[in-house]
Amino acid sequence: MENKHLISITDYTKEEIFKILDLAEDFEKNPNQNLLNNKVVATLFFEPSTRTRLSFESAISRLGGKYIGFTDASSSSVSKGESVKDTIMTVANYSDLIVMRHPIEGSARWASEVSRVPIVNAGDGANQHPTQTMLDLYSIRKTQGTLDNLNVCFVGDLKYGRTVHSLLQAMAMFNTTYNFVSPKELRIPDEYKLYLDKKGLEYQEHRELDEVIKSADIIYMTRIQRERFSDPMEYEKTKNAYVLKNNMLEETKENMKVLHPLPRVNEIDTDVDENTKAYYFTQALNGVYTRQAIITYILGLK
Ligand code: CP
Repeated sequence: MENKHLISITDYTKEEIFKILDLAEDFEKNPNQNLLNNKVVATLFFEPSTRTRLSFESAISRLGGKYIGFTDASSSSVSKGESVKDTIMTVANYSDLIVMRHPIEGSARWASEVSRVPIVNAGDGANQHPTQTMLDLYSIRKTQGTLDNLNVCFVGDLKYGRTVHSLLQAMAMFNTTYNFVSPKELRIPDEYKLYLDKKGLEYQEHRELDEVIKSADIIYMTRIQRERFSDPMEYEKTKNAYVLKNNMLEETKENMKVLHPLPRVNEIDTDVDENTKAYYFTQALNGVYTRQAIITYILGLK
């Protein structure tokens, strides 16, 4: 049987996405299940991570599985010059599924073409972060009761933010109204605008957050991705572009939730954390349930 990978969110149909969200709901009710007995999952992180790696490892542990891997390429033989291909072909011999984060766009797709076990993309450069999208969709459905016909406001680094790229593609299945708020240097790339154009979906680009905040069902804040800038001066120019403060939420919709894939630097003031509209830490918790769902779905255990 051919491997089922998760490389881009567009690899999965709406039905498959709903299946994973429904499984995640079951795992939220009952997170400790011995479904991964005798299974080994490899977590290969060529880039830093807190939430993605640890929520995967928590998900695997709660399912009774084992994990192996590295948290830094410098502790692997990549530091001696080993290629991604050789690394994947080796680790595939030791595991039943590989979760991989890598700084190069397209690296996860490349890994899936040489691996004999399924590959799950845990973020490839500025390209895609589909498991984050699953937990974002889960969080949106849980807080809004639906994924349909929502007004989603994406804020910050829309050029390099891979979570934005994946989520906007997923939300294209649900008749979303898009507002993109960014500095002009970090606007949403043309390929994603073209994607929405082809789907006949409307979007607006803005410079100011207060122009659109009141109509949003979801405000999706993002960090300015310092590690992706080739020119440090460009980062300095944009790093404080948006700071969401508690008083800015006063006239927002009752149902509105603030999401953020995290980590946060300074784009959400800590005084927002106590606001009932702040959802980002629960959003990160939802990553455990959705990653349990993704693993068991891909391995055909659910
Ligand atoms: N959201 C996210 O990918 O966080 P980490 O970089 O901590 O994994």
